[in-house]
Amino acid sequence: MQGGAVSTQTRGVLGVVGSAAGGLESLRTGLVEPALALGWQVAVTLTPTAGRWLRENGEFQRLETVTGLSVRDEPRLPTEARPHPPADCYILAPASANTVAKLALGISDNQALTQIGEALGTLGVPVVVFPRVNAAHARHPAWNGHLSALREAKVRLVYGADVWPLYEPREAAPGRDLPWAEVLAAIADDTAS
Ligand SMILES: Cc1cc2nc3c(=O)[nH]c(=O)nc-3n(C[C@H](O)[C@H](O)[C@H](O)COP(=O)(O)O)c2cc1C
Repeated sequence: MQGGAVSTQTRGVLGVVGSAAGGLESLRTGLVEPALALGWQVAVTLTPTAGRWLRENGEFQRLETVTGLSVRDEPRLPTEARPHPPADCYILAPASANTVAKLALGISDNQALTQIGEALGTLGVPVVVFPRVNAAHARHPAWNGHLSALREAKVRLVYGADVWPLYEPREAAPGRDLPWAEVLAAIADDTAS
């Protein structure tokens, strides 16, 4: 798909990166469409696993339709044009424990991590991350170190009992809503001039 269908933007380009964690299926309705309504141009990139999930349920195509841009879930070839405009800021949500860990360590083994990892080191590009994890993920011995590394990189974490109480695996209510309003408020704060 060619980019450019969304042409009357005022706020800039928001890179939305999604990984394979519960609630991913609400990425369009919970985050992308509200961000478009706020005036962002939205460019969506998914981890390969997240891409598989959203292709299977039709959301991949719907995200391309509403954003007017390709959804990326694999790297381009050097001979291919860049499918997205450069992002002014990024939201990584939902962020699986796996993707948080790799981001904190600087591992960029897919297109989603390549983009968000580079954004962490790019001056003036705010990054908001919502770790969609459970209590077991948070007790992993490396977890607090990963969060510290991201905070040191000036990432705004949407995290804590007030926005995302941690439950033991398989003990949270099914279909629990993700804190999309808090995620959008965080990027609005970080990009306010
Ligand atoms: C149905 C299902 C739900 C999952 N939900 C979560 C989740 O909420 N949080 C999480 O960290 N991992 C979750 N996982 C595990 C991740 O999908 C898995 O670690 C995967 O390798 C993450 O890949 P990615 O980070 O590249 O997207 C879930 C897996 C399945 C099959």
